[in-house]
Amino acid sequence: MEFNHKSVMLKECIEGLNIKPEGIYVDGTMGGAGHSKEIVKRISEKGLLVGIDRDEEAICVAKKRLEEFSNVLYVHDNHDNIKNILENLTISEVDGILLDLGVSSYQLDEKNRGFSYRLDSELDMRMDKTQKFTAKHVVNKYSEEELARIIFEYGEERYSRRIAKKIVEQRKNKEIETTEELVNIIKSVVPFSKGDGHPAKRTFQAIRIEVNDEIKPLYNTIIDSIDCLKSGGRLCVLTFHSLEDRAVKNAFNDSVRKMYMSTWITILCLWSRNKRKNNYKKTNASIRR
Ligand SMILES: C[S@@+](CC[C@H](N)C(=O)[O-])C[C@H]1O[C@@H](n2cnc3c(N)ncnc32)[C@H](O)[C@@H]1O
Repeated sequence: MEFNHKSVMLKECIEGLNIKPEGIYVDGTMGGAGHSKEIVKRISEKGLLVGIDRDEEAICVAKKRLEEFSNVLYVHDNHDNIKNILENLTISEVDGILLDLGVSSYQLDEKNRGFSYRLDSELDMRMDKTQKFTAKHVVNKYSEEELARIIFEYGEERYSRRIAKKIVEQRKNKEIETTEELVNIIKSVVPFSKGDGHPAKRTFQAIRIEVNDEIKPLYNTIIDSIDCLKSGGRLCVLTFHSLEDRAVKNAFNDSVRKMYMSTWITILCLWSRNKRKNNYKKTNASIRR
């Protein structure tokens, strides 16, 4: 399957990063390299791009798409480890970091990855296939209370208790193995409501977030990313939903408070997706270091 992903806010991210030809940049969510390509086109041979993705398939695609550029380092890892990653590369500080959070369209559309409620496949949802913990484990092993909590918290699903109860009831007969089985369970307890989207959409988002631990480490990742920036460096973050948005804003605000005493300024840009209008809104934060 082809890696199709339309990079969002491309122009804005590139402007936000304020790329210097000899700078060192990190794309912490390389995906199909849409943003990376625009970054690497703007740096000279003396500049460097470090591209990180926890999905090996994304790294392979990025390598192909950027094969004409020699100044790119590819890292198959979790960007939550940004400090260690840079330390291992003997890079002490960078000029800019980009985080385009969440899943790629490729991951959602690729049947075998088990992310989609529209395609039937094994319940998987791992961004990093070397990880053991899958959606099948969450659905079949979590207690009813744990299921209800994650579906409510990460999916903002008002029928979370009903869904959790039904999952636990069904799995007594047989392990729930496929996305289609899960969709049918959800459909049997969630009334269809116009404007709410697919009845399984929110539960699938919740399980995906749990499998990939997308929210809990995010606050620290932003704090660590800010720590890795040079004075005057830039951090650009694209968030897709309110949970990511909250974690990033809290980290931005706490950093602003902590660093008010010194003199250099780092600009942070955060673009949050407006769920209803499906467009992005920008928040800027300036930090004195
Ligand atoms: C929205 S896509 C990025 C698309 C990319 N900006 C482009 O233009 O093609 C998000 C990518 O980040 C990766 N990702 C998500 N969370 C990650 C994490 N914690 N560490 C490393 N990669 C992550 C996913 O595997 C996915 O490939």
